[in-house]
Amino acid sequence: MKTELFSRILYRCRQVLQAWQPRFSKEELVWADAFLTPEERAVFLEMAPADRRHALDVAHLCHRASGELSPEAQQLLLKAALLHDMGKRNASIGLVHRILYVLLGSRPEKSQAFYGWPLLGKPLSVLADHASLGAQEAARRHWTPALVELIRRHHGGCQGERKLTEPEHPEMGKLLSLLQEADNRC
Ligand SMILES: [Fe+2]
Ligand SMILES: [Fe+2]
Repeated sequence: MKTELFSRILYRCRQVLQAWQPRFSKEELVWADAFLTPEERAVFLEMAPADRRHALDVAHLCHRASGELSPEAQQLLLKAALLHDMGKRNASIGLVHRILYVLLGSRPEKSQAFYGWPLLGKPLSVLADHASLGAQEAARRHWTPALVELIRRHHGGCQGERKLTEPEHPEMGKLLSLLQEADNRC
């Protein structure tokens, strides 16, 4: 019990430190670039440095764990890893908002109490809804339904409605679990 609490505190501290001063190597940016189209790359570059650092960390973990996937599914997983938090671009989210959201347990229902507050409301509501916001934008950009679905469900829930116009990607279950597991570890 104590070990679990300690590792949760460590995890939260690491999240805050990562947001403080993210660093990137040239090699990993070149590596990540290879998985993105020019349009996707532009979206990735619009993400805040802290979110890009996090996305790259998620992508590295996904890459290591994706050996059993088909090459097409691997490519899709890496795209999703790099873009899954793109919905956070809908507000100017500072370190204070990130710390507050983490302190609230990253729970949308807890952050709702602050929605009416100036300077806090918009960033916290975007943090709470970023999966759905990102998926809506990805759909507007006509990205593949599987990529939209991975962005929408990367926190495990089913924020927003899925358009049942196409069959689900055959490896969706595995893709989701790899993405969610990597996201939870970064
Ligand atoms: Fe997220
Ligand atoms: Fe994430």
